[in-house]
Amino acid sequence: MFKKEEYSNRRNRLKANFKSGILLFLGNEESPINFFDNTYQFRQDSSFLYYFGIKTPKLAAVIDMDEDRTILFGDEMSIEEIVWMGQQQTLQHKANQSGIERVEASINLSSYLKGAKTKERTIHFLPPYRAENRLKIASLINLAIDSVKEKASLSLIKAVVAQRSVKSATELIELDLASSISADMHLMAMQMAKPRMKESEIAAAIYALALKDGGNLAYPVILTVNGQILHNHYHGNTLKEGDLVLNDSGAETNMGYAGDLTRTFPVGKKFNSRQNEMYSLVLAAYTTAVNALKPGIKYLDVHYTACLALAEGLREMGLMKGNMQDAVAEGAHALFFQCGTGHMMGLDVHDMEDLGEQYVGYTDELKKNTTQFGLKSLRLGKKLEPGYVLTVEPGLYFIPELIEQWKTTNKFGDFINYNKVETYKDFGGIRVEDDYVITESSYRKLGKELAISIKDIEEIRAKAY
Ligand code: GLY
Repeated sequence: MFKKEEYSNRRNRLKANFKSGILLFLGNEESPINFFDNTYQFRQDSSFLYYFGIKTPKLAAVIDMDEDRTILFGDEMSIEEIVWMGQQQTLQHKANQSGIERVEASINLSSYLKGAKTKERTIHFLPPYRAENRLKIASLINLAIDSVKEKASLSLIKAVVAQRSVKSATELIELDLASSISADMHLMAMQMAKPRMKESEIAAAIYALALKDGGNLAYPVILTVNGQILHNHYHGNTLKEGDLVLNDSGAETNMGYAGDLTRTFPVGKKFNSRQNEMYSLVLAAYTTAVNALKPGIKYLDVHYTACLALAEGLREMGLMKGNMQDAVAEGAHALFFQCGTGHMMGLDVHDMEDLGEQYVGYTDELKKNTTQFGLKSLRLGKKLEPGYVLTVEPGLYFIPELIEQWKTTNKFGDFINYNKVETYKDFGGIRVEDDYVITESSYRKLGKELAISIKDIEEIRAKAY
């Protein structure tokens, strides 16, 4: 945990947004795999972690604005639990470490909230993303299960998003660490990949490295020779000379902060000429997007900058044609770049996605209201502020099924040269991705350096043989 002042300060800043009512936070519970006692690795809810720092399952906390107190609801370990799991720090001790003055048994939460409801006090809560917490809120506050999400407190969502979006110096240390461990995972993957190796061997080594110092993966490893599949979690292919490996993996520190990096490298010692040309284009778009980062710029404009750079390059290669400004405005480039250029990152790899993309990535003035293919997957559009941490991750993806579908209707025929695109149907995909913090006047890359240029990657690959 951080020092208790970090958590009390965070709670005090949150409290400044509310004059009265109750702010209710539910922690996560254990999640069974196939029977009750065989559980997935526990992960605390990120907002709970942010305000209270305690990783124990089955907790709730109340910040009572009217009584001016914070209460942790949970149960000390039973003797049965101590027999099986060993004695751990008491809840009272953990509450002290978080600067929380009072601990109550979990059974008392229901009557506490009922008392508040009787007095018609507002109970603010965040939208639950796990079924058990949805059920719990429905029962605690007497709501229909289907209405829980829509009854979540907009003022609490907005206050939490505003606060968690701007990372403190303490958080940036963790985020730097997460990106550095992620860079180690990527370097190792580049060094170990060989023809005849299974994707799963590299994915397993990445997982081991993420776990090594007490952390974890921030999300399941995407490591694939089919990089055109945006989130490909299948690891059953065997690498062969001529393939590209797309590795999108990131570490989570033991404090819960995420890293999220992507590199694409050849299984052989060198990129072939087609791969070299396409990689150079993605890297140029990445550099253009990174150079555009600064406080005050809309990330939507950074995205357009990256899309335009990709589209111009594809036009030079003969895959696109016409005016690329128009092509990008209409969404024609999305045949090759179907997603957004980046997203916020923090305690979650897609930071606060559970609180709603409209609130995290957009504003009341810049609403997320497009259905345009490609653009609709951009999770971040709003103006950047110092302290925001985000990814920059342009890519080019040749998805045979999508190419076939668009070609059949000659979709965007004025912008796409389908005869040429046909010859790239088996190309696969390329993405490069790093993590950045927006500073007072510019930006800073998080974590240690990781090879990204063709020259540096080929040097590493040459030593792998
Ligand atoms: N890098 C995985 C993701 O952004 O979803």
